[in-house]
Amino acid sequence: MGFVVAIDGPAGSGKGSITSILAKKMKLNSIDTGAMYRCVTLAIIRNNIDLSDMEKIKEVLDNIDIKLIKENDNQIVKLNGEDVSKEIRDNPVNNLVPMVSSIKEVRTKMVELQRKMAESQDVIMEGRDITTVVFPNADLKIYLDADVEERAKRRYNQNKSKNIECTYEQVLEEMKKRDEIDKNKEIGALKIADDAIVIDTTNLTQKQVVKKIKKLIKREKQVKKLEPKIYSERPDNTRKRVVKAIVKVVLRGMYKIFYRVEIIGEENKEKAGKNGGFIICPNHVNYIDAVAIVVFSKEKVRFIAKHDLGRIGPLRWLERLFDVIPIKRNTQDLEAMKRCLKALKNNEVLAIFPEGTRNGMEKNEKAKNGAAFMAIKTGKPVVPVGISGTFKLFSKVYINYGEPIDMSKYKIKGKEKESQEQATKEIMDNIVMLTNVKK
Ligand code: DC
Repeated sequence: MGFVVAIDGPAGSGKGSITSILAKKMKLNSIDTGAMYRCVTLAIIRNNIDLSDMEKIKEVLDNIDIKLIKENDNQIVKLNGEDVSKEIRDNPVNNLVPMVSSIKEVRTKMVELQRKMAESQDVIMEGRDITTVVFPNADLKIYLDADVEERAKRRYNQNKSKNIECTYEQVLEEMKKRDEIDKNKEIGALKIADDAIVIDTTNLTQKQVVKKIKKLIKREKQVKKLEPKIYSERPDNTRKRVVKAIVKVVLRGMYKIFYRVEIIGEENKEKAGKNGGFIICPNHVNYIDAVAIVVFSKEKVRFIAKHDLGRIGPLRWLERLFDVIPIKRNTQDLEAMKRCLKALKNNEVLAIFPEGTRNGMEKNEKAKNGAAFMAIKTGKPVVPVGISGTFKLFSKVYINYGEPIDMSKYKIKGKEKESQEQATKEIMDNIVMLTNVKK
């Protein structure tokens, strides 16, 4: 699959124009999926098909040929070889497309076509379900939003410039209706994907929005290019072991001087490690707390870290030296999961921040179930860790290891999800207690 930027958002949020500007600037092929649903609608209208006649609709879908072609900076939409770019924006299509795009068979066919379009080219695709259904693993997911009043104002001005007669109130009413339909569709409803970056464009100019997304695309492109390096493992040879030992001594010394690190409950790791591997679960206060856990541990600790950190050269070097397992956040990164399970089965020690992000508890973020899932699956214990301190220069940092938690009680067939939630809660409760060090 090529590089995929997925953009969703309600009508009038600016997705269309922003997508076509970005496509030009970033050399991506823009795909307006709304135009595809409009083509199907036009074909249905032209063939006089009733929306309850599924046989005929299926026939249309089986024979449909939709092409989105770039011609002199304009996008031309071709339906079965004919240029229908204008006709698909006319009222008969406008009125029927919400119903047509709610038909399951239509959606299945469009999703299939959309996925095919990204097989051999880099795309920027906009619609309603691109980040959630079509490409849940897109390289970049954006949700563009704006207040309904602002979106109606934009659409009203657009209509005026095209000499389309309407009042602002009519456009606003129409926009609210469209939002209702888009958000409450049984399939392919407009939703914000968990890991989508939400950009509220209400008070932003088009230029500002383009600039923001351009920056994000550049960053993701860089990560994609570096992926082979980020994911490659460095063989554990003598040279690597010597470099690792030296780096550990140097960093330990620096942490002792600059952050006056004090380790408490070291023996709990020994207890956990009696029967092999285990998972260390600390709270996450700062970018550099993971390094402290690794360099102050006698055992080899492999952290699981978001894979885009590897775009930074020195960090990538450190990550590969300490065999960090890169993981794509919020997506089903099966490759990373396999690596983690394999490491645990080989009795290695893994470390993961259940908060998912720095100070996740303070930000009221829901803790992630990944550690609980892996511990339950492999039968390995979890060692909760409370890190307290600010990592301000010369202030004190405590790393407080708690008693290992046996996760076997959570292995309940048929209740996997609930058990993981409960196990995660127990881990988080322990972490909170352990951050409370009597100083
Ligand atoms: O973005 P637009 O107004 O051209 O979309 C036309 C219709 O298609 C609109 O009713 C929403 C629907 N649509 C959809 O259901 N899923 C998409 N991915 C894109 C558009």
